Amino acid sequence: MIFDPGRRRLLQASITLGAAGALALPFAVQAQEAKPAEKEPEVTATEDLMREHGVIRRALLVYYESIPRLRTKPSSVNAVALQQTAKLFRTFGEDYHERMLEEQHIFPLMRKHGPEFLKYVDTLTEQHNRGREITDYVLAVTKGGKISSAHTKDLADVFESFVLMYQNHAAREDTIVFPAWKKNYSNQQLDQISGQFEEIEHKVFGKDGFEEAEKAISRIETELGLQDLSKFTAPSPPKV
Ligand SMILES: [Fe+2]
Ligand SMILES: [Fe+2]
Repeated sequence: MIFDPGRRRLLQASITLGAAGALALPFAVQAQEAKPAEKEPEVTATEDLMREHGVIRRALLVYYESIPRLRTKPSSVNAVALQQTAKLFRTFGEDYHERMLEEQHIFPLMRKHGPEFLKYVDTLTEQHNRGREITDYVLAVTKGGKISSAHTKDLADVFESFVLMYQNHAAREDTIVFPAWKKNYSNQQLDQISGQFEEIEHKVFGKDGFEEAEKAISRIETELGLQDLSKFTAPSPPKV
């Protein structure tokens, strides 16, 4: 096993103590007490899935940012960066997060939760499959570092509907599917599952897949001049 049982026992103890202690102690104090024996902060299974959504959402923002350019000034679009983003979406988002975690571990259990969840999971699976078709398309039209003028408007439309679909998809998973899935397990079982997820991550990527994916999307953002978060602060609304 790659995960450290000692680290997890410590976490378990802090969860047990937490109910009484959390009321009396500020969070920072509890975190300091737990820290000396831990090499790195614990990542739970659902936190793992949700931070993967964070990388996926950043890839969606790269697509979103290119939509007006594709429509009005296609020559300003960086096709290489879009190709790199689609490759990251394929390896990290589709082949790992969707196929190896959600479709293997989350969806089968949620299908047994009655007709409402069955329908939900069918839709989520259909959206995974549509996303894969879209990634194939993005990879094809950005191949060779250029986008033919025949594809620029279609690609803008595809990005627009894909970003809307996947923002909804990930938000529903974060707020409905993952919390419902988590309720099936005790804290100890969730601890074991997060260890299994970590093992899968190491098997697929040979190292920390999340760290590498985060670095990859950061590099793409820098390439496109999107690295400064303050660039996205909305302007003040009109005075009324
Ligand atoms: Fe999903
Ligand atoms: Fe997901």
